Amino acid sequence: MSSSGATLTLAGLRDQLPITRHVAYLQTGGHSPTPESVLRTVHDEMAREAEFHGVPAVAAERAEKEARARAALATMLRVRPDELGITPSTSQAMLRVLHSLRWREGDEFVITNLEHVSVVRNAWALRDQREVRTKVVPADCGDTVLLERLAAALTARTKLLCISHLASPDGRLLPVAAAAALAHERGVPVVVDAAQSLGQFPVDVPSLGCDFLVGSGHKWLLGPMGVGFVWVAPHQLPTFLPTFLAEADPWAPPGTAAAPPSAARRAEGGTHNAALIIGLGRAVENLSAVGLDTIAAHTQRLTTQFREQVAGMERVRILTPTAPGQSAGITTLTFDGYDATALRGLVGYIYEQHRTIVKFQWLTAPMNPSKLGMRVSIAGFNNEGEVRGLVTALQEGVPRF
Ligand SMILES: Cc1ncc(COP(=O)(O)O)c(C=O)c1O
Repeated sequence: MSSSGATLTLAGLRDQLPITRHVAYLQTGGHSPTPESVLRTVHDEMAREAEFHGVPAVAAERAEKEARARAALATMLRVRPDELGITPSTSQAMLRVLHSLRWREGDEFVITNLEHVSVVRNAWALRDQREVRTKVVPADCGDTVLLERLAAALTARTKLLCISHLASPDGRLLPVAAAAALAHERGVPVVVDAAQSLGQFPVDVPSLGCDFLVGSGHKWLLGPMGVGFVWVAPHQLPTFLPTFLAEADPWAPPGTAAAPPSAARRAEGGTHNAALIIGLGRAVENLSAVGLDTIAAHTQRLTTQFREQVAGMERVRILTPTAPGQSAGITTLTFDGYDATALRGLVGYIYEQHRTIVKFQWLTAPMNPSKLGMRVSIAGFNNEGEVRGLVTALQEGVPRF
């Protein structure tokens, strides 16, 4: 139920997505379609801004709506609104975290081999600009082995551990809470990349025990493009300084007490698009009105059906771990004897012949021509017919390439 007490069914959510009328959209891990209610909210806010900019009552109303949107996001993540800074994307949120650390030559950045390509670019820039050494820990293994590898990789020189909650290439859930506990034993702060997990199932962010968490609105949260966020744990707020932006207000009357540190004031700055934040709030309200437990259960049911129907299909392998609790709505498939051309051909065929959108996925960064797969994202608005359609498309299409 949303904070307004409204409820919404999965079918009602699907009705708000015009794309579902002409394609089976199985690419929410890349970019979700935006529900009509969210689009309308963003549009109405921008239209109101255009018509009434500067009218004090309208400005006050917008500020109140924006505060409610931030509060809705915070409630969903079970954090406080002042611990959240809004950014344009997950990558920008990650940059806020990286910029707030004072990197020095010889520092180490520990990441897993399943991090998003944007994190690899961060690591390369830290190497080139600060002579920071990146250690890449292979995470496509069981949790126990991963934790052993992390324990070996984290040292007194490690400045930060970056680990995905749900890995983008293969949909694997990583043991972020255990990894954070391990890192903290060594005094290493942890940033969790939750771009692929938030919106798929309930996440109690403080219980992950990390220091920072980043995410985007435009994936599983079904929000508008152009808003992401960084969560900063309360104990990190005093030292979280990602920009050259003093907190003091130069126009505050002398003697005004300093406001307590806030992630928003530290991560943001300048004019921002309030309409997008209010739109993200609307997206969060939609998910709350359906219920994240309902979404997770539906997604799990469809994903299990899909995996059962694909298992044993000639030349098709499921890369994603399928045991309970090891993955969610993402399933990555690999294809025996396929190169990139064949896989692009198959992805194109599935769209052309079956109006189904899935993702060609490089499995490593930097790219390795033999490590490639098809990422299938099954979200709360998808249905059984779409999953069956993809299975038929694979049965017909795989032998052709
Ligand atoms: C795990 C993960 N991190 C980061 C990103 C980058 O997100 P954004 O496009 O919001 O910067 C993605 C996008 O696919 C992702 O899957």
